[in-house]
This record gives sequence, C-alpha cells and structure tokens, in this order.
Amino acid sequence: MSKVTVVGAGNVGATVANVLAHKDILREIVLLDIKGDFAKGKALDTWQQASVDYYSTRLTGTDDYKDTANSDIVVITAGIPRKPGMSRDDLISTNAKIVSSVVSSILEHSADPIFIIISNPLDVMTYAAHTVSGLPTNKVFGMAGILDTARYRAFLATALSVSPKDIQAVLMGGHGDTMVPLPRYTTVAGIPVTELIEKSKLNAIVARTKSGGGELVKLMGTSAWYAPGAAAAQMVEAIIKDENRIFPCCARLSGQHGLKNLFLGVPVKLGKDGIREIIELKLNKSETKLLHKSADHVKAVMKVFDKMKMS
Ligand code: APR
Repeated sequence: MSKVTVVGAGNVGATVANVLAHKDILREIVLLDIKGDFAKGKALDTWQQASVDYYSTRLTGTDDYKDTANSDIVVITAGIPRKPGMSRDDLISTNAKIVSSVVSSILEHSADPIFIIISNPLDVMTYAAHTVSGLPTNKVFGMAGILDTARYRAFLATALSVSPKDIQAVLMGGHGDTMVPLPRYTTVAGIPVTELIEKSKLNAIVARTKSGGGELVKLMGTSAWYAPGAAAAQMVEAIIKDENRIFPCCARLSGQHGLKNLFLGVPVKLGKDGIREIIELKLNKSETKLLHKSADHVKAVMKVFDKMKMS
C-alpha cells in the first residue's frame, strides 16, 4: 500500500485528496500547504467522511515536509490560481518559484517519488519540476490532457445527447489555447465522431474546449477544481494499480513529432514506474503544424523560466 502527498491544499489539492481517498487504494494521503492549519482542516474533513463513504485511507494535513517522508507519488497543486483576465503565462514567475521549492523540499525526505504537476502554466511548471528534481523523465509529468479531453468529451456528450462514458478522444499540445484537439481520433462507442456531428458544430466544440479553462474562470472567478482533481486522481490510480492506461499527459519529448527537450501533451502509457511509453501518433500535415505551433508557444514560456536561472 502506498503513500501519496498532495502539495497545496486549496481547491484542486483538496479535491485530489478527496477523490483519491474515495478510491480506497492508498495507505496514506498527506496534504501539505504553507497554510498548515488549512491543510489539517481539509485532511480532517475528508478523514471524517471515511466512515460515511467507506474508505480506510488515512489522511493527514501538515506544513512540515518531514510528514511527507517516503512518498511514492507527489501531486503538486501549490501556486496561485488564475484570476479573470490573467493568462496562464502570467503566472509563470510566481508559480515556478513555488513549484521548484516544493520539489526540492520533497526530495529531502523522499528518494525518488513520481511527481505529477498540476500548477499552471502547466507545461512550464512540469519543465521546472523536472529540471530542479534531476529525476528521469518517466517520473516527472503533468496533468492537463485528461482534463482537456474530459471537457471536450463533456461538450460532445451534451451536443450528441449521449453518455460521456462512450466518448473516446485524445488531445495533444500545450495546456492552453494552443492545444491540439484531434477529431480524427475521436469516437463515440467506436463510431468516428465525424459521422455523427456536422463539421461546423464540431469546430465550435473544439474552439470551446481550447478556452475551456477560461470559461470556468469567467463563471467562477477562479480556476476549476472538480474535473482537474479527478483527472489527477485517475493518473495516480493508474500508477498505483500499474494499469498501463493510456492518457494524454504532459511529458518530455525526445524526438517524437520532430520535437525534443520540451514538455508537451502527448498520449502516454502510465504504470507503476510512471510513463512507460510515449505513443507517437501518425499525425497528418495540418495536425503536425498545429502541434509545432503549440510547441513554439511552450518553448517561449520555457525561456522565461530559463532566464530565471533557478535550475
Ligand atoms: N507550498 C505549499 N503550498 C503552497 C505554496 C507553497 N510554497 N504556495 C501556495 N500554496 C498553496 C496555497 O496556500 C493554496 O492553499 O497552494 C494552494 C493553492 O490553492 P488554490 O489557491 O485554491 O488554487 P487551486 O484552485 O487549487 O489551483 C492550484 O492548480 O489548476 C492549477 O492554475 C491552478 O496553478 C493553480 C493550481
């Protein structure tokens, strides 16, 4: 049985811990936040739910990294959330400092955990975490694609009046407006989506998916947490159960699609060692062009981190 630490006990972090507790697959979840009592409260609340919802996973809240010792997986949500009118990139400087210090502090007490990054701007925060950690690339990756795909699947389910369960899809690229949805790889119970929906409607759904995060920021005044938290918990589950599930995740590319030395959303196989394999799709010319455009955007933000000279 395993131990998972979630750093940042805010909206997303507390949701990750809560969803994970309900899966009842872990020995222990530690919720850490600079606001120590806040993490203690969130952990206690989810622990008090255990007898009602029937799980045994222990939850502890803390602000002391000693309590995270020997974590198998660390999910990082610490940072400031996006405010209305703020792009993900505006967050880079503050959140890069936070993520880097979290990674260093974790590694003082856990030898080689798997890191799942959620803090935004996601692709660059994953790059920062990997750079600071010095861990192999299979052990440091980001959660974005499952969330973006889930949004796309939800919009399609509404438009087609079908269950989201029956929609399979994959998206690639950066987490943000340059993401690359791939209608060619979208199916509804095995039926290509293009046979079920008009092109113009599908294009509108793709456009809505690209700004799906911003739509929620506008509605709520802060970024989303239920779907992001559940998505990260699904990644943890795939690792803990060594499931070899295929999810779009933010991973370090090493030549796939002609791209290397950057973190970008691609389909990967997730198991107990983290990323087992990056699956390279046979993209057509226009898809490859969109992916490279997304990569250029991510590279530009990576440079901002490089200039911070933190690594
Ligand atoms: N160490 C630990 N926790 C920290 C640190 C730090 N250095 N800095 C900030 N935190 C904590 C805050 O105290 C807060 O409780 O991170 C938590 C963030 O929670 P929220 O403000 O509720 O933000 P949330 O909506 O959870 O989003 C977190 O995920 O989706 C992304 O863009 C989002 O980057 C943001 C992150």
